[in-house]
Amino acid sequence: MAYECILTESDGGVGIITLNRPDALNAFNQKLMNEVTDAVHKFEADDSIGCMVITGSEKAFAAGADIKEMASKNYIDVLKEDFITANWEEVSKTRKPVIAAVAGYALGGGCELALMCDFILAGDNAKFGQPEISIGALPGAGGTQRLARFIGKSKAMEMCLTGRMMDAEEAERCGLVSRIVPVGELRAEAIEVAKKIANFSRPITTLTKESVNRAFETTLSEGVRFERRVFHSVFAFEDQKEGMAAFTEKRKPVFKHR
Ligand code: HXC
Repeated sequence: MAYECILTESDGGVGIITLNRPDALNAFNQKLMNEVTDAVHKFEADDSIGCMVITGSEKAFAAGADIKEMASKNYIDVLKEDFITANWEEVSKTRKPVIAAVAGYALGGGCELALMCDFILAGDNAKFGQPEISIGALPGAGGTQRLARFIGKSKAMEMCLTGRMMDAEEAERCGLVSRIVPVGELRAEAIEVAKKIANFSRPITTLTKESVNRAFETTLSEGVRFERRVFHSVFAFEDQKEGMAAFTEKRKPVFKHR
């Protein structure tokens, strides 16, 4: 598939997807989201890739769904197409870790796409928001659900009901982003972090991601039980032997399953 709205590259075990519709601040039309989904599937299937980064430009991660494309649709259209978000969940279903590197605007579907990633690194100019209310709509790609789980009811409700944007500092304070990086360094830093993850034992990063995600899907006692079972299972892995041997031998581990 030749891409028109995204750029892809790989670097040291990292698959990088750059949203690239600069004239529309990376607003998502159907083509862009089909391309993101296709690229995610390809990186997921590529054994040389251990982690992905999704990013945009310094001005915009993405300004949301393409309002011009959406405007004339009617109820039957959106129902028939399972409009635009049907394939988005694929991003949240990846087994390999995905980092969102967000600079500039992450609005509406842009904020929702970032929320589907495993964590968000923010440029210091990042602005997050769910402004759908001001165009007579509401979040349609998990915004009301993921935002409420990640930052709590009060802030999520305020953002969804008023469309207020949140800057990077507020986003870090409330746990929406893992940390803030000067915008000029964001891309390089995200790739560096992703390379670090890609160099760990892949089966163990997969299990770690799955375990953290359990926290959002089950009770505490079931989640803790799941984690313990997974923890026990890694003692069957060569990479656990290597990791712990390397520590005692005061050397760097060389994981086999990368
Ligand atoms: C289509 C968009 C767009 C969008 C920006 N553009 N956002 N086109 N859909 N979501 C286009 C503008 O029309 C303009 O094109 C160009 O990008 C630059 O935008 P400006 O508005 O001129 O830039 P600026 O003044 O810097 O303002 C930036 C902005 C503003 C604050 C981000 O563009 C804005 O408010 N955009 C809409 C944000 C939004 O409401 N997002 C939620 C969408 S609904 P031209 O051709 O005029 O130069 C949504 C629902 C998701 O996401 C549900 C699941 C899919």
